[in-house]
Amino acid sequence: MADEGTGPTRRGFFVGAAVAAGTAVAAGATGWLLRGVDGDASTAEGAPTASASPAPDADRRPGITFPDVPQRHLALRVLALDGVESAALPALVAAASRVESPPDAGEVTVTVGYAPAHALTLWPERAAAASELPAFAHDDPAIVTGGDLAVQVCAETASGARDAADAVVAALGARIVWQQAGYRDAPTPHGTARTSTGFIDGIVNPRTAELREAGVWTDAVHRDTHLVVRRMLISASFTAQPVAAQEQAVGRSRDTGAPLSGGGPDDEVDLFAKTADGRLLTPAASHARRAHPSHIGRPLMLRRSYSFDPPSGAGLVFIAFLSDPQTFVMTQRRMDEMDDLMAATTTDASGCFFVPGE
Ligand code: HEM
Repeated sequence: MADEGTGPTRRGFFVGAAVAAGTAVAAGATGWLLRGVDGDASTAEGAPTASASPAPDADRRPGITFPDVPQRHLALRVLALDGVESAALPALVAAASRVESPPDAGEVTVTVGYAPAHALTLWPERAAAASELPAFAHDDPAIVTGGDLAVQVCAETASGARDAADAVVAALGARIVWQQAGYRDAPTPHGTARTSTGFIDGIVNPRTAELREAGVWTDAVHRDTHLVVRRMLISASFTAQPVAAQEQAVGRSRDTGAPLSGGGPDDEVDLFAKTADGRLLTPAASHARRAHPSHIGRPLMLRRSYSFDPPSGAGLVFIAFLSDPQTFVMTQRRMDEMDDLMAATTTDASGCFFVPGE
């Protein structure tokens, strides 16, 4: 296969980049963890040495399942590399991994996805499910799609995420198709975060290796995955509603994140629970019901979204990692039919990219 034997190995990256650039870069071909230079550990010649750190294991991939609590800031860049053949991309991406880690930015992760056409050329079997997304009901008529690569940079500082993303873009010599900065509010005790709507997002996520094998990684050998990224604007008419009406649309408490069907935030949504007079506690058109994976018989996708603040209303850079993009398509189709949260959204940029693992 085109990816094998052409680039540095996982260990090669870690060691090679540490020596060459003074940064420690860990993890697979398209997910890196940037670490800063340890200023106290200079050699006798004054050359900086990298602060060594163990590479995350195969199930803990930078910017996907590592770190456990997603970093506070996102710099997303969807890029065009005009005139560059598919076969040339992996080496360009590998070279771009040698960027310096910005100071004080915590764990800085760089996660790169390939557009379906490139993925199908480079990894025809592994990426067989790669596909562009179809149009959906609440897409902006002028929605921006396309691009050759998606680069997701996450860091604990906004400037660190931006600087690292800019360095990767410069190293690739790429043109920006669309980009978006995002943030996550301070984490809840569960490691989830409130979006700019004030609701806690990311509660129902695959948190065990078994669930990730089913819903995130394409197979247990390579642990490839598909990245869906959509820039969604939530109308001010949604956020201006009384909280009770917003909760009916979402199907959860805005305060605690608990399902309207009862229990605590970690309890499952009970789709059958009713009031004494027979009304569904999780409303028919609520997001928690419409997005529930049980309807489509598919495993759970991993959602790792970031907020942004548009001029009015609220914004979400919806980010999900899935073993099969069709899980997203089927979920979104159900929400297009009926979903009181989705009805208040417009998506103005969108893409689906293949993220190769080992
Ligand atoms: C404006 C955009 C969106 C917002 C503000 C939003 C918000 C939320 C919130 C607050 C929850 C409940 C807490 C949780 O389980 O995380 C949730 C659940 C969920 N959302 Fe979204 N969401 C958005 C878009 C999407 C999209 C585009 C999809 C996929 C097509 C999606 C899929 C899901 C799924 C699968 C769940 C878990 C449902 C369950 O099993 O209980 N969401 N979302």
